[in-house]
Amino acid sequence: MLLEIKDLVVKYGQISALNGISLSVEEGKLTCLLGANGAGKSTLVKTLSGIMKPAKGEIIFNGENIAGMPMHQIYKKGITLCPEGRRIFPQQTVYENLKMGAYNRRDNEIQADVEKYYEMFPILGERKNQKAGLLSGGEQQMLAICRALMGRPKFLMLDEPSMGLAPKIVKEIFNTINRIRQEGITILLIEQNAKQALKIADYGYVLDVGYITMHDSAEKLYQNETLQKAYFGGGQ
Ligand SMILES: Nc1ncnc2c1ncn2[C@@H]1O[C@H](COP(=O)(O)OP(=O)(O)O)[C@@H](O)[C@H]1O
Ligand SMILES: [Mg+2]
Repeated sequence: MLLEIKDLVVKYGQISALNGISLSVEEGKLTCLLGANGAGKSTLVKTLSGIMKPAKGEIIFNGENIAGMPMHQIYKKGITLCPEGRRIFPQQTVYENLKMGAYNRRDNEIQADVEKYYEMFPILGERKNQKAGLLSGGEQQMLAICRALMGRPKFLMLDEPSMGLAPKIVKEIFNTINRIRQEGITILLIEQNAKQALKIADYGYVLDVGYITMHDSAEKLYQNETLQKAYFGGGQ
């Protein structure tokens, strides 16, 4: 396992958002984390990336307990969060946004990676000198994902990448995620769009107000009637 979380408790003041959850992510796989609003999904990835400190529990990454380590140290270990909402820099160009994703790198393949993403997502190449704020919502999300990839993470966490996007664009975002998983990056995908997420994932967890209530192969979860009733709304 690349990541093993054991009995993780995370609190806001006196209130627990995560009540002792355990979860594992296998290297090279796409694991999805499903759950309604307020379930604690963002709290989990904020804790994994060091934005929040756990009250209790272990986060073993690559054999090392990183629970409570400062953010920059965790980032250096290859853990990157593509946060909720599209946090690109709107006043900077597409190219500048991509370059910022590589700020921690000292190798000479940064430009080659930029070109790689232009090729993978031609719209980014066509708009490379335009302000990122002029891109559509879906394009900004692609840019946010590519910017995260520019840091060459071992483990990429995507917090609701399809949120607020039109159904057609949602499909494109899922195609994008499917393409990057083929590069062998280990991914944790947070989604409320359970049906689509389970179609591309290998394994899935369901989080319900601070507790993991179900976990299984994505295929089994996809066929699970209880899960379908609770999380397959919208009919997409
Ligand atoms: N900054 C905060 N202060 C206090 N409570 C918070 C804060 N952020 C989130 N919460 C609470 O923690 C719980 C989990 O939130 P969150 O992790 O954002 O859920 P999700 O991402 O699954 O929608 C919710 O009850 C939410 O109200
Ligand atoms: Mg959230």
